[in-house]
Amino acid sequence: MTRYKTQDIVAHLGDNPLTHWQNGALVVIPTETVYGLSADAENGDAVARIYALKDRPRFNPLIVHVGSIEIAKQYAIWNASAEALAQQFWPGPLTMVLPLQPGAPVSDLVTAGGDTVALRMPHHVVTLELLRAFGRGVAAPSANRSGRISPTSSAHVRVEFGDACPLIVEGGDCVIGLESTVIDITNAKHPSILRPGYVTENMIINALGSKINVKHKASSPPTLRAPGQLQSHYAPQLPMRLNVTQVAPEEALIAFGPTPIEGAKRTINLSERAELKEAATKLFHVMRELDSEEYKAIAVMPIPDEGIGEAINDRLQRAAAPQ
Ligand code: TXA
Ligand code: MG
Repeated sequence: MTRYKTQDIVAHLGDNPLTHWQNGALVVIPTETVYGLSADAENGDAVARIYALKDRPRFNPLIVHVGSIEIAKQYAIWNASAEALAQQFWPGPLTMVLPLQPGAPVSDLVTAGGDTVALRMPHHVVTLELLRAFGRGVAAPSANRSGRISPTSSAHVRVEFGDACPLIVEGGDCVIGLESTVIDITNAKHPSILRPGYVTENMIINALGSKINVKHKASSPPTLRAPGQLQSHYAPQLPMRLNVTQVAPEEALIAFGPTPIEGAKRTINLSERAELKEAATKLFHVMRELDSEEYKAIAVMPIPDEGIGEAINDRLQRAAAPQ
């Protein structure tokens, strides 16, 4: 097989993302959570390019992004909980894991050979239009090298992939800034949260009127149901220290709230007003900003573990886990 340079592919296919998808090329897409590295979910060669560019282990399955519930139903066996959650949260930052529809045209690489598929309808006007025009699902992990921090702006994506960067659809800064909540509803009556996110357990209970039985915690070992939930993830190069009450002069500090600890070489506050949504939106951007050889480590003040704070702490614990 001839190996083309990414720039050659982009030059050849032009700047229409639909043409890229149709030809099995990759496209970086904006979403409300983080930027995604997308390809036609039905084209195995195209999906293989995602794994290769990210250097992602092939046992870690991908989310299929869809522009309509009808398309979702072609890929998954739908159930009552899926319907209720889709009505409430789609388009939006909720990914649902459902049984794979027998004979669904999804590449085996997307599901990592498993019998379930993860689906999400992203809430970004440009990406939704593109998905609807394409009429098929696109597989898209976050547009970063495997194990690194998810990108919340197109500039982050360019830094991640450099000369190998595919076509980017510019969509501005991501408004949520943390990856979607992943919920397993293969059993409609016993859903479980595999990855916390903007859509919290309480919001899901309110929508379903049922009790969620399992919660994923970063401290627990990876399970088969959540193959991608590796303990070390979203990691900067520098070591991270969490829940600090004191800081060393050679450290950078991620502060939270109106009274930051003093004494760090540099401090960035996630939210002076102690607002968790503001903190979530800024977290990955700030982690990238402070991930510099100028500092010895990144210290982080405590973040309340409530609402979206749970997702923030989940990402921080993974970023701090031994690599
Ligand atoms: O917000 C998001 O979800 C972003 C944007 C681009 O949509 N995407 C994203 O993808 O974060 P990724 O690949 O970085 O994370 C997807 C997570 C992984 O932990 C993966 O293991 C899990 O979803 N996942 C995907 N398919 C699954 C399946 N069939 N069963 C269980 N977990 C699955
Ligand atoms: Mg990711």
